[in-house]
Amino acid sequence: MTTASPRFSSPQRDDERDFARDTALAREMDRPEQVLEAILDPRRRGSLYPFLHRLRALAPAHRTEALSGKPTWVLTRHIDVRENLRNPDVRSDARGVDVFDVGPAGRHFVEMQRNTLLFLPPDKHDQVRALISKAFTPRSVEQRDGRIREVIHELLDRVEPKGRMDLVPDFAFLLPVIVICEMLGVPTEDLPRFYDWAHQSTARGEIGQVTERTIREGEEATLGYAAYFRELIEDHRRKPRRDLMSALIDARDEEGRGLSDEELVGSCYILLQAGHGTTQDLLGMGMLALLRHPDQLEFLRKHPSALPTAVEELLRYDTSVQISQRVADVPIELSGVRIPAGEVCVIFNGAVNRDPEVFHEPDKLDVRRNPNPHLSFGLGRHTCLGQSQARKELLEAFDILLERFPNMRLDETKPPAFRDSLFLRGLATLPVVF
Ligand code: HEM
Repeated sequence: MTTASPRFSSPQRDDERDFARDTALAREMDRPEQVLEAILDPRRRGSLYPFLHRLRALAPAHRTEALSGKPTWVLTRHIDVRENLRNPDVRSDARGVDVFDVGPAGRHFVEMQRNTLLFLPPDKHDQVRALISKAFTPRSVEQRDGRIREVIHELLDRVEPKGRMDLVPDFAFLLPVIVICEMLGVPTEDLPRFYDWAHQSTARGEIGQVTERTIREGEEATLGYAAYFRELIEDHRRKPRRDLMSALIDARDEEGRGLSDEELVGSCYILLQAGHGTTQDLLGMGMLALLRHPDQLEFLRKHPSALPTAVEELLRYDTSVQISQRVADVPIELSGVRIPAGEVCVIFNGAVNRDPEVFHEPDKLDVRRNPNPHLSFGLGRHTCLGQSQARKELLEAFDILLERFPNMRLDETKPPAFRDSLFLRGLATLPVVF
């Protein structure tokens, strides 16, 4: 058990008060649709978990049209999701993209999603995944360790003299984006070109919340990204390099087939998008969780060897990818409910990671929690391809941040704020002083 040091005993924090208030509010809700409405409400990002708990308690497999206007099953129990993700008859393919479909006005975004690893047909998926995987084995990630540490120090050198930073734009965004750009062969000088596209594309993926504006901007971002990658792919064809983009261009399966231009663009897009936003969010929310739990932070400062276990707990406690989609080819039964073949299942990862059937005191941050079977990287065929790299970046980042800035604390004049997204949960701002 973790014991709070008396030095840090403090009055109840705002986030704890909000959690208690929202737990009471959620308990008064007795209709799953009402709870879902609260979950989808962008004003509730700070305290999402009381409502996820309530939905799991009321209807762990809940059929709704609130997410996309089409029947969709929301799953919130760990055991159901584990079975669902491991079941070979349950797939992530183009049918999962239906939740993004808003008609012709948003067709380019939908088309791009169909060409990403997450939603390719199974055979194609396995072919593309095998090619990309070579760059993400624990060994190849280990070889990048030195560069990851170097980038972290460079970023912290820039902010150190100021004694303060907004950890999200100044550090958490830049670290993973620089690392994935260098791997992929995307010049980091081009960052300003795709900064807005990255955010607009994330906003467009927000199921249940798209507006005319997010659809329009999502189309602009998709077309911008596609033209940019086509140009870069052509350049790599003319002048091949030792990077992932050249490897993808050259890759051939046993019958000599390579990736089509659309698949190449889709692969570059998913690697760039998945490779930075998620890790950025984990760095931000993880640091916030630690700063709000000084006893845990103090423990890690004294015992840095506990960092790998702590990273798993931070991944569980507040994760970035809150939603994944699946479709079953056959009817399946979960939590006593029969889900017909062909209907989309939407997995709420945050609810799964705090399921009290699996995690003791699930709302408590315990950096020594072990075992920790969180599903933040998914499971099965589509399990996160970049997880070794994400773990490495998180581990090195927390290690160096704790060592270089032992007095880091929240900037009390500027509170942290969540983005209003649910699909990819994360902070917009985390001002800290050190
Ligand atoms: C903490 C950071 C990260 C989190 C929480 C995360 C989470 C996830 C999750 C939950 C999935 C599975 C989605 C599903 O089953 O539908 C996934 C897939 C994927 N992730 Fe990550 N990810 C992270 C970092 C990264 C990084 C750094 C990269 C690449 C550099 C990456 C690349 C991918 C790719 C390509 C897939 C698709 C795999 C497939 O469909 O076969 N991720 N990620």
